[in-house]
Amino acid sequence: MNNLDFLTQRYSCGKLSEPGPSPQQIEQLLNVALRAPDHGGLKPWHYIVMTGQGRERLGDIFAQAVTQNGADEAKISKAKNMPLRAPCVIAVICKYKEHEKVPWVEQVQSAGCGLFSMQQAAVAMGYGGMWRTGELARDGLVRDALGLEAEDELVGYLYLGTEAVSHNCRKPLPHEQCVSYWT
Ligand SMILES: Cc1cc2nc3c(=O)[nH]c(=O)nc-3n(C[C@H](O)[C@H](O)[C@H](O)COP(=O)(O)O)c2cc1C
Repeated sequence: MNNLDFLTQRYSCGKLSEPGPSPQQIEQLLNVALRAPDHGGLKPWHYIVMTGQGRERLGDIFAQAVTQNGADEAKISKAKNMPLRAPCVIAVICKYKEHEKVPWVEQVQSAGCGLFSMQQAAVAMGYGGMWRTGELARDGLVRDALGLEAEDELVGYLYLGTEAVSHNCRKPLPHEQCVSYWT
């Protein structure tokens, strides 16, 4: 598949199983992320790579967060198991750096580019990936446990692994819905 078809037909896959990317492949993915566009060269990024039991550590944090929010046993158990949905989870954090020319939103976008680049690179390696957020990307206890400060943003969790189901590629969108031309 050529590069343009690859980009045009991109897709996510939420059902992921073993094997996940190897440690060497994860390093390659991080090399891709660290090439994200970066206004001012601030490198406002932190990537936490979780594999094996490291995912259980995140699951424990999720369980604590929903417990604190009054969840029942079923929801606690669901939250605990969320990071086990894929062999590798990478939490992508924007570490905001105050700068007169680079506002917060640009720094978050830069971290988002890093996350998306990794997802694309993982697919190019033959894996599947899914960008997830949800309430557990915004929860205060989770933010604290992952080391975020007040102005940092948890941009998302990138779930990576081998596609366990065939993926659904979205139909091409009619351009009129979201494009206008000034000529
Ligand atoms: C910032 C962001 C957060 C997302 N969070 C979730 C999420 O928490 N759960 C989910 O099912 N999909 C989430 N998605 C959507 C999926 O990553 C994916 O894009 C969507 O399922 C459409 O599939 P596709 O990428 O194959 O078109 C999120 C996407 C973005 C950009």
